[in-house]
Amino acid sequence: MKINILKFRKISWRITFTYAVVFSAVVILLNFLVLYGVRFYLRQQAITQVDSIGKNIEGKILGVGDEQKDIYDKELVNDSVINSDINIKIADSSGKILNNSKNFNPQVSIKANPNNVMVVENEEKHLIVKNFVISDNGKIIGYVQVAKNMNREYSFLKLLFIVLLVADAIGMITSVITGFSISQKILKPIKEITNTAKRITATDLNVKINVGEVDDELSNLAKTFNEMIERLKISFEKQNQFVSDASHELRTPLSVINGYINLIDRWGKNDKEVLQESIVAIKNEVKYMTELVERLLFLARGDSGVIKLQKEVVNLNQLVEEIVKEGKLVAPNRNWSYNHKGRIDIFADGRLMKQMLRAIIDNSIKFTQEGGTINISVEKHLDKVKIVVKDNGIGIPREEIGKIFDRFYRVDKVRSKTTGGSGLGLSIVKWIVEAHNGEILVESELGKGTEVSVLLPM
Ligand SMILES: Nc1ncnc2c1ncn2[C@@H]1O[C@H](COP(=O)(O)OP(=O)(O)O)[C@@H](O)[C@H]1O
Ligand SMILES: [Mg+2]
Repeated sequence: MKINILKFRKISWRITFTYAVVFSAVVILLNFLVLYGVRFYLRQQAITQVDSIGKNIEGKILGVGDEQKDIYDKELVNDSVINSDINIKIADSSGKILNNSKNFNPQVSIKANPNNVMVVENEEKHLIVKNFVISDNGKIIGYVQVAKNMNREYSFLKLLFIVLLVADAIGMITSVITGFSISQKILKPIKEITNTAKRITATDLNVKINVGEVDDELSNLAKTFNEMIERLKISFEKQNQFVSDASHELRTPLSVINGYINLIDRWGKNDKEVLQESIVAIKNEVKYMTELVERLLFLARGDSGVIKLQKEVVNLNQLVEEIVKEGKLVAPNRNWSYNHKGRIDIFADGRLMKQMLRAIIDNSIKFTQEGGTINISVEKHLDKVKIVVKDNGIGIPREEIGKIFDRFYRVDKVRSKTTGGSGLGLSIVKWIVEAHNGEILVESELGKGTEVSVLLPM
């Protein structure tokens, strides 16, 4: 029993079942209509026949037409009986039977229910009977009873019923078979998708589903599925790239540290100069590695959605002022300027805002010569806040601007070695800006300077 229920849970069976039930219901309903329609028609036919025979006899007795026949006349009955399905009785005014065609015996009193159609139905008899009262000037002359035996018609109906029943059975079986085969056909691509999905593993995303030529819902599903696999593939590749880049970035400072340790091991124990140089270098590399690991951690946590924004009302002017003050301390030989009009508050994560602005300004410091200018401005822009950091540093080649947000991307790797960047700063900036539903735009010209604009909702 349980297996059966489970089986019907399958879509193919549900489709088949629904299809068969609806189809059968329609067919059965149609058959009932046909049977009842035919029965009604046949009965109506019989009533008309009975009526016309009765009226005819009545006319003859009363002499309405050109021939008149006496109520005792045997021919009245004999002439009117067309076949053995019709039985006619004629009685006088007292109800005494004068004439009876005796084709069959209706067993209905000749005086019963005058001038109304009677339907006599029981197991072996199906009769239509009508009694006619013959009266002349209000005086009853006699009675005529016309009865029609409906057995022949009922046999026909029975046969019709059996034929329809057989047709129904064939129809139902066919509907189950077609329903099943149609559902199998429809669901075939879904099975294919399921099988393909089973083959997908993290290491093998090189599977594709056959989309097929017809542009229907299922081919759409297959297309969507293929696109999803493609996106996953890209994302996996990115992730792999990220991990390998990160390892590579970490290996360089480690080998530097290793080199200095070997140096100390060999000469440094006695050579103060070598020792001092090594300590400074190792300190630098450790600082760089610590920063790098922190950034990697930030991006990894950002990717997995662990970082929750702690939004609050932040006084943006104050925040920028603090960062400019810090910048001035780090790079006193740049010309700093900060423009703003009035106080601007922003609903954002203050800590992340600081981190973002620091990374942008850090770049401006790094890529601007001594004596260069760094200009920061904050202004309202419709319902947004626009923060612009502009420098007159070395700039970025036009074709590279699009890539600077990529992880580990540095325009000039050799130069970056001296500036100490890891190429993750702007990736983090982008993550923070997007987490706040903002936008970031970079305009730059090689040798002239760079302008970074951040647009944030208030
Ligand atoms: N203000 C700027 N002027 C010139 N180049 C810039 C500026 N900001 C970013 N860049 C370029 O974009 C690259 C990526 O920046 P970022 O992600 O912050 O990495 P990093 O600062 O660690 O090198 C930098 O290496 C640099 O080549
Ligand atoms: Mg940077």
